[in-house]
Amino acid sequence: MCGIVGYIGPREAYPILINGLKRLEYRGYDSAGVALISEKDAQLNIYKTRGKVDDLEHQCASKDISGTAGIAHTRWATHGEPNDVNAHPHCSQSESLALIHNGIIENYLVLKQLLVENGYQFKGSTDTEVLVQWIEYIKVTHKVDLLHAVQIALREVVGAFAIAILEKDRPDQIVAARRGSPLAVGVGEGEFFLASDASPFVEYTNRVVYIHDDEVAVISREKPLKIVNLNDVAQTPEIKEIEMSLSQLEKGGYPHFMLKEINEQPQTLVDCIRGRINVEANNVVLSGVIDNQEKFLNAGRIIIVACGTSWHAALIGEHLIEDLCRIPVEVEYASEFRYRNPVINPGDIVIAISQSGETADTLAAIKLAKSRGAFIYGISNVVGSSIARATDSGSYIHVGPEIGVASTKAFTGQVTVLSMLALTIAQLKGTIAPDDYTRLIGELAGVPDKMEKVLKTDPQIQELSKIFTYAHNFIYLGRGYNYPAALEGALKLKEISYIHAEGYPAAEMKHGPIALIDERMPVVVIATSDSVYEKTISNIQEVKARKGRVVAIVTEGDEAVTDIADYCIEVPRTDERFAPLVSAIPLQLLAYYIAVNKGTNVDQPRNLAKSVTVE
Ligand code: AGP
Ligand code: GLU
Repeated sequence: MCGIVGYIGPREAYPILINGLKRLEYRGYDSAGVALISEKDAQLNIYKTRGKVDDLEHQCASKDISGTAGIAHTRWATHGEPNDVNAHPHCSQSESLALIHNGIIENYLVLKQLLVENGYQFKGSTDTEVLVQWIEYIKVTHKVDLLHAVQIALREVVGAFAIAILEKDRPDQIVAARRGSPLAVGVGEGEFFLASDASPFVEYTNRVVYIHDDEVAVISREKPLKIVNLNDVAQTPEIKEIEMSLSQLEKGGYPHFMLKEINEQPQTLVDCIRGRINVEANNVVLSGVIDNQEKFLNAGRIIIVACGTSWHAALIGEHLIEDLCRIPVEVEYASEFRYRNPVINPGDIVIAISQSGETADTLAAIKLAKSRGAFIYGISNVVGSSIARATDSGSYIHVGPEIGVASTKAFTGQVTVLSMLALTIAQLKGTIAPDDYTRLIGELAGVPDKMEKVLKTDPQIQELSKIFTYAHNFIYLGRGYNYPAALEGALKLKEISYIHAEGYPAAEMKHGPIALIDERMPVVVIATSDSVYEKTISNIQEVKARKGRVVAIVTEGDEAVTDIADYCIEVPRTDERFAPLVSAIPLQLLAYYIAVNKGTNVDQPRNLAKSVTVE
């Protein structure tokens, strides 16, 4: 999911490729690599390493880096540990093709099986290596050139990709294609650039062509750009002018990574459920659960450990698992769990949730639980992270690197994985009625479209934020599934705007916090239509009776809350179990715009670190 760079033209490719990779470093990555066709001996030279672009440069210092055609990559591992072998470019069996890839090939296991049966051998464990071998297999068996092999091969591929391929015997061209992952071609004078976004080539050209899904581009020396679709129908390249500055480009045109990541959520959710939910086949398959189904079927109790936002996701997981799977769940702050003397019974499962996979408290909680004999399941974003390695099994959330310190897309990814985990276990255990299973699969698969819709409330929330920029305190209320959403909304506001904010279960307010309510207190209530909607309305009445200013998140078409709240933000209707996925977005946006109004450092708020590796 990270960075691609390519160059073909009259200049030496290596410096352009390395500088291009550096421009893409903001995306976060774990390995880097480059492939060049040497003009000295017509060899395809590939250099790659785990680590940073600087490490790659170090490795290349004593190597043949000549060549005017090349491709380079920063990898953010999704399949297979971040190590030298799994780093891109990957080579085909005959070593005539070198390929770089961003994205995920969903059906790589099926293709790999077929290739193994046909004598292909694999060096690493990535989905990408399968893709390059698959393209070579098609090229050989169909006796076609690279372009046609790519077209035929990609028709059979399920998943997301931006790829670029260099062929040893064709130093005059690079073939590239995309579906789902970004890919741009920079058009220069007698030269072409390829990249995940325009930032690696802004200083060379301001003319860019964005490749569309299922298009294959051929960039050649001294030939015009050729774009065809997978059925070989020529497409007219649409040349656009780059108008953005470099820092705007890195942030995808957004002023902050946080806003970019908030807006990415419809796509990151699709990436998260890719290959796991199949609506047509009516199933959810979370392989980590399937592989350990006996453990999940016999679990007497599940304990979830996490910190911060991940802990809020855990609270939603508790509701989901208890509701759908009828297994008792306890949620613990990892930092508290590790210093208690927790009772762990045989058959208990501990789920550890961590975006970074490096949080010291969560890691220590895992070690403690492991020493007491628990089976540990990890939910993380970073492949090969310490937590991913310390757990017995697990699932990645596959939302891509999160750069903003305030977690947004990781939260919705974690809740989505927990939803898929609960549905998988419930189906195995038979604790869910077939109709409900089918309906919930459809609902979950429909969330990305609903997120897309809710993102359109951005201008309304931006306006609303102006009213509250100078508030000193905020209260967030919610019940049921929306209670953890309230906690998460309050945390977002605290972290980036430095406004004191507290989240409570709405009904708990009358046991104390209600004393805080007066006409200066903004109260954000998540009051979407659910099984506790009427109860939430009573709690809003309690706030209004004390003159609190209510901002309510409501379901489209709501009348009852809209009548009493001061401000309402509408979100699409969804099953209450998945409501936090949709209602998280206006809460993230509200915190974001208040922070922007205040002029705080949104992406790197004071006193906070992205991964907290100290206790
Ligand atoms: C989220 O906005 C925070 N920055 C923080 O609470 C974070 O969720 C927490 O530190 C846990 O991090 P992890 O998910 O990487 O373990
Ligand atoms: N799925 C590929 C891998 O794990 C590509 C990851 C990426 O997009 O960087 O190697």
